[in-house]
Amino acid sequence: MQILNLTLEESAEKLYLKIANAIRQAIKNGNASTGEKLPSARTLAAQLSVNRHTVMSAYHELEAQGWVETKERQGYSVAQTLPIYLSLKSNENLNDVSNKHQWRLVKTENNNLQRQASDYQFNFAGGNPDISLFPFNEFRSYVNEAMSRPQINELNYGNNNGFPAFITEVSTYLRRVRAIANKEIIVVNGSQEALYIISQILLKAGDKVAVESLGYRPAWNALKNAGAELIGVKQTKEGIDVEHLEQLFKQHKLRLLYLTPLHQYPTTTTLPAAQRIKVYQLAQQYNVPIIEDDYDHEFHYDSQPLAPMAANDPAGRVIYLSSFSKIMFPGMRLGIIAVDQSLAAHIVNYRTMINHKANVVLQDAVARWMKDGAFERHLRKATRIYQKRRQCMVETLNSFIAEGIELDFTVPPGGMTLWVNVGGNAEEIAKSAQENNIFLLAEKAFHLESKNDENKFIRLGFAGQSEDQITQGLSRLKPFLNRKD
Ligand SMILES: Cc1ncc(COP(=O)(O)O)c(C=O)c1O
Repeated sequence: MQILNLTLEESAEKLYLKIANAIRQAIKNGNASTGEKLPSARTLAAQLSVNRHTVMSAYHELEAQGWVETKERQGYSVAQTLPIYLSLKSNENLNDVSNKHQWRLVKTENNNLQRQASDYQFNFAGGNPDISLFPFNEFRSYVNEAMSRPQINELNYGNNNGFPAFITEVSTYLRRVRAIANKEIIVVNGSQEALYIISQILLKAGDKVAVESLGYRPAWNALKNAGAELIGVKQTKEGIDVEHLEQLFKQHKLRLLYLTPLHQYPTTTTLPAAQRIKVYQLAQQYNVPIIEDDYDHEFHYDSQPLAPMAANDPAGRVIYLSSFSKIMFPGMRLGIIAVDQSLAAHIVNYRTMINHKANVVLQDAVARWMKDGAFERHLRKATRIYQKRRQCMVETLNSFIAEGIELDFTVPPGGMTLWVNVGGNAEEIAKSAQENNIFLLAEKAFHLESKNDENKFIRLGFAGQSEDQITQGLSRLKPFLNRKD
């Protein structure tokens, strides 16, 4: 140990005893633990601006009391066994609950932290990318480049919108692949941060926000945290029921609309172009902004994905969110907001209260990765693999249907999951699956209002596991599924 933070008491005691007391206190507090090496007398003397012999006297005193041990040429260390009566006393203090600080929590969330999906042998959680497909070696070279040629100015405080080269790459990509232009890009630490900031700056307590009645709970939590009252829009086989949305607009003063139009979360249906236009017109008529959460745009298999609503947004009312969590991996914590210039500065200013900016080194590396075309190469590869996995899951489930098992589903044109009607007992099936080391969720987990739970659907993610794992996991699940007869 080079440095031990010591506080010398103000007293008339001799200096070496004050130093001994301070070291003893540090040991009692656990700042230096049993057996740990202590700073040399020379180091401590320099730190405290005292004579080295004074520190040595302090150490000798502590040695005599049994707090410190010394070994030839190895210097001083905390005794392996501390003086028993004192250590008992300090443990008593620690264990005495009445001594501990009682927090006054004014905002708290029950996150129900259970076993994580990734801890299960088979993980059919919906939106999991297969992280093992990520080209770590290739990406490392871009991180190396970012570190070898750092842009010193950008690594400092300031410019909270995002790293310019990254914004350039993302803008080009959004314009070319998703037809989004005329929006300002802000880089965030994942879409969740964006949802939180937008909720905070656009909503007041009691404001009504329309959301999909089956939907994405983390987004709802961010909206509710800003005081929003959530109102569920019914869903059809094609995403949200636009007629119901129109009724809601008439009945309530809606302030915001949160949607996942491309691959509706959790059902993976795609809202058709005509319906999107109606939604946009309603938003226009009632002057309401739309958050468009396009979290897994690239993973579309049968055709080009529909251009986002943000691509056709003359009024600048669509707040477009995109994430690198599926393209790369969730731990990357990189996302973007594409938004009208009139809102951009407000988002950036608010974000500065939470965190100055997103990680610049990673933005730099990803910008280089994108510029080289390696990013799109990875996307093409992952999309090809996910498409085969979707096929594998569809074929396996179809073979179950042929064997008399009750299942019904529509093959989604994209996304990472199937939304499967098991005819009933969905919750029981999910529970039995989890007891057998298979993670999946039933529809109950996604309802805004539990009264709408028909207990019929389960969600099966196909992207995150190999074809072998998919077939093995599903065959282990088979005995828990309902039979038609
Ligand atoms: C609907 C939806 N939005 C956004 C995200 C991505 O969130 P983040 O970028 O915070 O990782 C996910 C990931 O599961 C999602 O399902």
